[in-house]
Formats: sequence, C-alpha cells, structure tokens
Amino acid sequence: MSMHVVRLLQGRNQSGTNDILSALACCPMSEHPWWQTTVIYQIYPRSFQDTTGNGIGDLPGITSRLDYLADTLGVGAIWISPFYPSPMADFGYDVSDYTDVHPMFGTLSDFDDLLVAAHRRGLEVIVDWVPNHSSDEHPWFVESRSSRDNPKRDWYVWRDPKPDGSLPNNWLSSFGGPAWEYDDTTGQYYLHSFLAKQPDLNWRNPEVQGAMFDGIRFWLDRGVDGFRIDVAHLIMKDPELRDNPPAPEGWQNRFKSHGEYDSWLHVHDKGHPDIHQVFRDFRALLDSYQPERYSVGEIHIAEWDAWATYYGEDLDELHMPYNFSLVHTPWKADEVAARVDELEAALPAGAWPNYVLGNHDETRLATRFGEQQARVAAMLLLTLRGTPTVYYGDEIGIPQTDIPPEQQQDPWGRNLPGAGRDGCRTPMQWDRSPLAGFSPAGTTATWLPLTADSQDRNVAVQLDDPASLLSLYRALLGYRKSSRALEVGDYRRLETPDGVYAYERNHNGSRVVVALSFTETPSRCDLGRAGKVTLSTIPGRTGEEVAGTVELRPSEGVIIELD
Ligand code: GLC
Repeated sequence: MSMHVVRLLQGRNQSGTNDILSALACCPMSEHPWWQTTVIYQIYPRSFQDTTGNGIGDLPGITSRLDYLADTLGVGAIWISPFYPSPMADFGYDVSDYTDVHPMFGTLSDFDDLLVAAHRRGLEVIVDWVPNHSSDEHPWFVESRSSRDNPKRDWYVWRDPKPDGSLPNNWLSSFGGPAWEYDDTTGQYYLHSFLAKQPDLNWRNPEVQGAMFDGIRFWLDRGVDGFRIDVAHLIMKDPELRDNPPAPEGWQNRFKSHGEYDSWLHVHDKGHPDIHQVFRDFRALLDSYQPERYSVGEIHIAEWDAWATYYGEDLDELHMPYNFSLVHTPWKADEVAARVDELEAALPAGAWPNYVLGNHDETRLATRFGEQQARVAAMLLLTLRGTPTVYYGDEIGIPQTDIPPEQQQDPWGRNLPGAGRDGCRTPMQWDRSPLAGFSPAGTTATWLPLTADSQDRNVAVQLDDPASLLSLYRALLGYRKSSRALEVGDYRRLETPDGVYAYERNHNGSRVVVALSFTETPSRCDLGRAGKVTLSTIPGRTGEEVAGTVELRPSEGVIIELD
C-alpha cells in the first residue's frame, strides 16, 4: 500500500474519510516499497537554508523549502545529515546526544514540525545515524574516560600501551595520524577511526547496542522513515586488534585518496564478520515498525562480493549499502557501463540497486564532469535501475568552491592539505538577493562562502530558463515518476559505438532507451526499433521521431520511448 495511504489511515494527517478514499482510488497497490521507487535528496543542514541570520542553515529553514523539494523539484524523500547536539569537530558527525537537536539547528519541536510538513507533502524523511563513534563530549565517553573501573569504561575501545610504551597496534585514523589517543588520567589509549574527538564505540558490549538502538527507537517513534548509517562497515573490528598488513606495491585505493592511510590494507580495522548480526538485529528493529522503514549504509568497500553481503544473506540486513562506484569511476562510457554491469551482476537475488554521484564528502560533480557532462550525469542518475540520491545543489550545478586556507573549516583538510571537504558544502543558492537567499537580509556572512557566480547560478534564475540544469532535473524527475519502465523496469545494456553508453529499461512491454554520449564527437546509436524522443539533455528534440537509429550530438543524452 502506498505510504501516502498508510499515513492517512494511521491518522498522521488530519484529513477526513474523503481524502482516504480518493487516495486509495488514485494509488494502485505496488509490489515495490516506497524506498525503491523514490528519489532521495541529501540535505547538508548547515548549508540549506538559514532562518536565524547566523550564516548557518537550520531545521526551520529546511521546512520552509519543502514546497521546492516536493513540488518544484519533485523528489520523494530527503536525507538530512546530522543535526544532533555536537561540538561540531566534524560538523555533526561527532554526536554528543543521539536523541536531541543542536540548538543551532533548532529544537525537537522544530524537527517534529518538519516531519509533519514533509509527510503532508508526501516526502519521506531519512535521518543520519552515526553508530561507529560518538563525540568525546558525549556523557558516555566522559564517564568512560573518568576511571578504569567506571561502568561505561567498556563502552569504548581502551587498550594498554605495548610494553615499550608504544601504540596498541598500527591502525591509522582516516583523517590522518594514529587511530589511538593516549589518555593521561587512566594511562590507556582509546581507539578513534576518525578524529581524537570521535572515540569509537565498542559494539561488542551489549549495553552499547541496547543504548544505540534506544536512540533509533526514539526517532522511529517520532515517525522518521529511515536512516542513513554513517560508515556502517566500520562498527566491528578484529577482536584481537591485529595489525593491518602493508598494502602491496602499486596498490591503489579505488575511493578517495587518504594519504598515509592508503599504505595499509584495512582488513582488521573494519568489517569483522560479526558486524552482520548487528545489522540483522537493526533490521529486525526497523521491521517491527509500520509503515515500512528503510536503511541505507555508507559502505566504502571496493570488492563487490564483500559490499553485497550488507544486504544480508536473506536480505535481512540493510535495505541498501550505498553504491559509490560511479563517484570514483573515470567519466568514460565504457567505464561507467562496466560499473553498472558489475553492480547488476553482484546484486543478491531480489536486492534493489542504488546510485549516487556526489555527497558532502566528494568533489562536486559539476566540477568533476564539466557543464555538458553534468547534464548527461543527471540523466544517467535518474534513469538507471535503482534508487538515486541527489546531493543538494547539484541540480543547479553548484561547482566545487576553492576555500582560502584561512576560511577552511573541515578538520580533515586542516590535517591533510587537499583533503578538505568544504568546497562541496557551500550554501545553497536560491535567488539573486545578496546572500543568494540562503541567509536572511542583514546577515553578515555565511559559514562558508557562496560560489563566485551565485547571482547567476541559483534556483530562481534557473527556474526561469527552460534550458537550465534545474529545468532538466525537473523534467527528468517528472518523467521518471510517470514511467514505470524507468521506476522499476528491467535493465539491459545495448551495443553502442565508442564513447556512448545506452541501455533499455523495460516494464511489461513498455520500453525506454537511454542513450548517453560521453564524447565531443557526434555519434549514432542503433535502437533496433522506431521510437520517439521524450527528453534530451540539449533542449529542442522532444517529440522527434527516430526510425531505428538515433543521432547523438556531442555530450548529449536522450531518452527514447520505443514504439
Ligand atoms: C562519514 C561521513 C563523513 C564523516 C565521517 C566520520 O564518512 O560521511 O562526513 O566525516 O563519516 O563520521
């Protein structure tokens, strides 16, 4: 049953019986749950909409933009990066209270308002859950570090120095330096996979699992629709804390470069097999709620087989592990096509795929791909088989922004020059007002600068331009919603000339072909059947009849409905 109908029946919405009947009439029963047919939009809350004038976004700001998300843009769900109390050492990924809202972002009641307002518009709300580590200012850690016999000592990972006084093992922090911090008070080291201000929780202690799951229940009971799980594959490490082996000569991290961290194979500091029981328990907790709740894990694993295990042997773990393969693939037709084929081959039976091209940790796609290819990328993301996640601002092509050293905020960038992520976290640009509508009039500065072209690159300007990137996103999202072939149809790759990637999506005989040119030369693609162009990344072709082949202009993507 559609989520909209379930909500009406559950009375989350104040509507009367007529609304319920009309919803039942308009929404056919679907064998696909909402999280398979939706499009997720990621919001970095510091950077979406500021309502207080402190230059930092907040929850009421998100609420004020829901009409844009639901109606103007047309996405189906939002994932909000952390908004919990936090000292902000890693901008909220260092949580000091899992069941509250940081005053900078608003209050719990603001969150409840956001949830009601989102649900009223048919938007699902996914929140971030950060289970691997808390902040060192979380009361649990404050207790844990206070003495060796504190009842919460074992809630974190404490170890003696080696007999020669050195570190317990060779593990490194992803953000630079050793993963161990010495604590003078009790003469032991604690583990931190990220900053020293982000101590790792000990998930082998059942009390930790109990307390963390209570935090999950807190948000489920409030009505959230799902969770994005931060570094989900990290929570279980080798119980013996063995050293990681050195990476062989020439070994390359397929994901983002981490400097010295990449000199080691990270076989012992993440993904120990007992991690799967935690996610089975987690899934059972989610499944005890109605309507259906959802989970997507941040899983950075390059080997497809290992990645796919996070769905669970009986599809009883995460609904999806995030698929980052396209973020790190050279932007070439054959490479992109190969990643999609690999994913399709790796999926366990019945598992649902997903795609993402950017997020708050990665270089903006407009900069990675360039203006024309960013349009092709949008068409790819919104037409592949699987749930897409769109990162805020990508729909208007916000580029990676150079942040001068004195304005840099990201601790990773300060530890490792070049690794900073501020450039993809700049404020959303809404209109031509002095701070592009991100902060109210009179605000002196935003927490990160706007892009240099913010007066021309913003939602208002692009809404008025049928050829803009935003207009393309709107058209793609609208078309996807109207096409069962795109939403849930099968995927089949087509034979293409070099530089072109094309695939057919088919649902009950309704066939759509997507042909994408990654080259600067014109090309021709065989379709095998006649059809009609429904959308092109270069405006002006809608309705064009094609007879068995389609001509693609340089860097053009087209969608064709076959006869
Ligand atoms: C994840 C988040 C990233 C954060 C890190 C530590 O990778 O996406 O932003 O810094 O975890 O929590």
